[in-house]
Amino acid sequence: MTNYAGKMPDSQFVSLISTAPFASGSAREVFDVPSDPSVVIKRGRNIYPGSNMVEWIIWSAIKTSPLAATFGECRSISETGQYLMMERLDDLAQSDLADIPRIPVWTNDRKPNAFGKAGGRIKLRDYGMVYLPDLLRLDCEPAAIQITALNNRQRGLPGW
Ligand SMILES: Nc1ncnc2c1ncn2[C@@H]1O[C@H](COP(=O)(O)OP(=O)(O)OP(=O)(O)O)[C@@H](O)[C@H]1O
Ligand SMILES: [Mg+2]
Repeated sequence: MTNYAGKMPDSQFVSLISTAPFASGSAREVFDVPSDPSVVIKRGRNIYPGSNMVEWIIWSAIKTSPLAATFGECRSISETGQYLMMERLDDLAQSDLADIPRIPVWTNDRKPNAFGKAGGRIKLRDYGMVYLPDLLRLDCEPAAIQITALNNRQRGLPGW
């Protein structure tokens, strides 16, 4: 598998594309990469490349976790975020639907077409929308560092 370093200039992604998009959604157009059939390039349709950036940030956070097995691998994002390179995940067949893996509650655009498969493994290929209150765990306990600082002040100790 080609492993492109993160954050190449947009022009480098443009040079990897030579055909019209083979698929599109409301936020992205998706292109083949003739020099590497194992990946696609997702180009933002709007000036603000929010979906590409969300996918890049989520992938960066989960890539060493068990969740990485059910999310499309993001290989690289361009300097502006307008271009995102992701592993190619082919359309599912009707018979695949019952094998779709469980995904986190914070994914916020769940639909069968958001999944694809590579090497017999089904993964999420559109995770550009997330439900931030769940992702940020707004209901969780405050950071322990603050508790430590308060304890230190009460004990007359400096800083944290
Ligand atoms: N990793 C991938 N491998 C192969 N095809 C893909 C991949 N990602 C997306 N596609 C294809 O491109 C289409 C559009 O991509 P995607 O769903 O990510 O864009 P979107 O703009 O977020 O779409 P939507 O409006 O449905 O949210 C998909 O429906 C799928 O057909
Ligand atoms: Mg989407």
